[in-house]
Amino acid sequence: MIFMKKHRILPQLALAASLAFTGFVAHAADLKGDPIAGQGKVWLCIGCHSIPDYRADYPLVYRVPILGGQNGAYIASSLAAYKKGERKHPTMRSIAASLSDQDMADLGEYYAVQSASSPNNPLK
Ligand code: HEC
Repeated sequence: MIFMKKHRILPQLALAASLAFTGFVAHAADLKGDPIAGQGKVWLCIGCHSIPDYRADYPLVYRVPILGGQNGAYIASSLAAYKKGERKHPTMRSIAASLSDQDMADLGEYYAVQSASSPNNPLK
């Protein structure tokens, strides 16, 4: 249990460090995404989109776009398009339907700050 606790804290420190380093906050519509809050929401996405900080989710799944390093506003607006039905992929539509605008902005910023130098990043 002590080990698990450690494992959860380290990625947050790393994320905070990479935020301080890049020093930018993008905007999705008029909402400000919070990457730390987004980190608590990505459990929904882990099975399909490869998530840095989760080594267990090792293989990239074919035809699932890589989100790490993608523009945060782009991710948030893509999710909104699935929710509205402008984008048709059925699974993404039902997932996006469960997200608020704030969730989308947070998730976008979470993925935006991932980079090849993120620790335990299987995408590098
Ligand atoms: C069941 C698997 C699955 C899950 C779970 C999943 N996705 Fe996806 N996602 C996909 C697939 C497949 C696509 C490509 C769909 C398409 O072609 O429109 C996609 C596309 C996307 C896109 C569009 C990317 C682009 O480059 O246009 C975004 C953004 C996205 N997903 C975010 C998320 C987020 C955030 C979560 C968690 C809240 C999530 N997805 C959960 C499978 C999944």
